[in-house]
Amino acid sequence: MKILVINGPNLNMLGKRDPAQYGAETLDEISQSLLVRAAELDVELAFFQSNHEGAIIDFLQESAPKSDGLIINPGALTHYGLSLRDAVADSGLTFIEVHLSDIHAREEFRRHSVLQDLALKQIAGHRGKGYVMALDAVVDALVDAQEVNAGE
Ligand code: DQA
Repeated sequence: MKILVINGPNLNMLGKRDPAQYGAETLDEISQSLLVRAAELDVELAFFQSNHEGAIIDFLQESAPKSDGLIINPGALTHYGLSLRDAVADSGLTFIEVHLSDIHAREEFRRHSVLQDLALKQIAGHRGKGYVMALDAVVDALVDAQEVNAGE
């Protein structure tokens, strides 16, 4: 099983960026925790971060056909990235939307996500741990779907 882990604009700055909202962990440290959990679950991960919506879409179009699931923190694209929404929808991947901060307890403009209605679920406010929670949830959902398909 292969899961894509995509991070959008400014998430390369984790560790330095507003730790009160986003925690002190760097993106590398979060990715390391994910790799540890992925090894326990026996799944493969592919990581991608970009500050450019088009680059994320290119990566998705290229990688989705060879993948099973997606964990995505779209950064601010969450709130207005309609091209990204279309690409995620077109990918057909089961996905979880992750936010380090609790976007529902912040400014009004952060409360709306253009991806949320497509996502299996949204995990927000658990800092870096939210990514590991997302990995568990997406793998659970994919295993359940495999079992249903095998039983048909
Ligand atoms: C974020 C929340 C967004 O509103 C913000 O623009 C980000 C990070 C989060 O992880 O909490 O860049 O997605």
